[in-house]
Amino acid sequence: MQNSPSTIILTGEHIQQIITHVGIDAIMDELIEATYQAFVNYDSADSVMKARSGFNYAEPNEGLVEWMPIRKIGDNELVIKVVGYHPRNPELHQIPTILSTISKYDTKTGHLMALVDGVLPTSLRTGAVSAVASKLFGKKESEIMGLIGCGAQSITQLHGISRMFDLKEVYYYDIDPISQQSFESRVAMLNLDCSFIPSTINEILRQSDILTTGTSIGIGEGPLFENAKTKDWLHINAIGSDFPGKFEIPLSFLKKSYVCPDWIKQATIEGECQQLSESQIGESLFNCLKDANKHKNLKGQLTVFDSTGLALQDLVVSTIFLNHAKAMNIGKALIIENESIDEKNPYSFLTTLKKS
Ligand SMILES: NC(=O)c1ccc[n+]([C@@H]2O[C@H](COP(=O)([O-])OP(=O)(O)OC[C@H]3O[C@@H](n4cnc5c(N)ncnc54)[C@H](O)[C@@H]3O)[C@@H](O)[C@H]2O)c1
Repeated sequence: MQNSPSTIILTGEHIQQIITHVGIDAIMDELIEATYQAFVNYDSADSVMKARSGFNYAEPNEGLVEWMPIRKIGDNELVIKVVGYHPRNPELHQIPTILSTISKYDTKTGHLMALVDGVLPTSLRTGAVSAVASKLFGKKESEIMGLIGCGAQSITQLHGISRMFDLKEVYYYDIDPISQQSFESRVAMLNLDCSFIPSTINEILRQSDILTTGTSIGIGEGPLFENAKTKDWLHINAIGSDFPGKFEIPLSFLKKSYVCPDWIKQATIEGECQQLSESQIGESLFNCLKDANKHKNLKGQLTVFDSTGLALQDLVVSTIFLNHAKAMNIGKALIIENESIDEKNPYSFLTTLKKS
């Protein structure tokens, strides 16, 4: 074991230490920029992503565990996030709906280089990509944000968007009155100079310049609304649709909007795009960002960013935290893998023990 390489472990506590040290706004700004760069420079010849896969089940706690992989050929590394989604976690166990860990492997050997808590990083990277999409599609003067769903993701959605726009009002709604009532106090630490207005779905749609739908609506229970009146330029970040049969936005609204999926391959399986035919789906966020001029006119139109969540974002966020950990000299180095002295004899350690 002595010669075995170590694995860097970043626990949730390390993530908190980094955020406390760097500052939440600075971390979000860094992540927004890195997310933008990762999408705009995305090259499928160097990055191989596989659509998410996993297990879903009704018992013992309705939910799913999935894995999301990406291989960066040039960097000889591979990142896999394993993520659990159990929407009754808050009620049953007082823990977040989404728990995850991000692992990073060396493709030269298969060695596990790092293991990073993914709970807060997942929320952060989901907020960051909505910020990137909103900057591209949202009206420059946007100052009213709407939130449908006031769970864990809503905090970083608001945070991300607030770094791009000078928000004056935030309208919000959650089907669970306790989540709705506690929302304002949960976002107080963002120190935003805006009014928070508890509202209804229809009023949020009427008022918002930019809106995030981030609910744990059940499979087959969508959409969240029908025939709502909106501003002509409303941009929606639809982040809650991430499973076959689960969607938030009505087909009628999607049909009159420009729909930009994060990644068509995944969005047609489990995003809002599962409701659409190929000809009704716009370019992916990769292409829209690469060719931003071509998409400039979309700013005055109805747009939907169909965010299913990509392994690319997990790679970006874990790299940021690992870099900060290195600079701060924190994290745990553990030798996990048993690389036996005789590589052709996994029992060789027994011989060594006997000898000594
Ligand atoms: N796109 C991505 O990359 C990405 C990343 C993380 C999470 N998500 C998705 O975002 C959603 C929210 O995740 P979370 O971590 O905030 O979960 P959460 O459980 O913390 O919050 C979800 C909230 O939605 C509310 N809700 C459920 N049905 C509703 C309805 N019909 N109307 C209004 N509110 C409703 C719940 O009461 C709850 O407060 C989930 O569906 C999750 O899978 C997507």
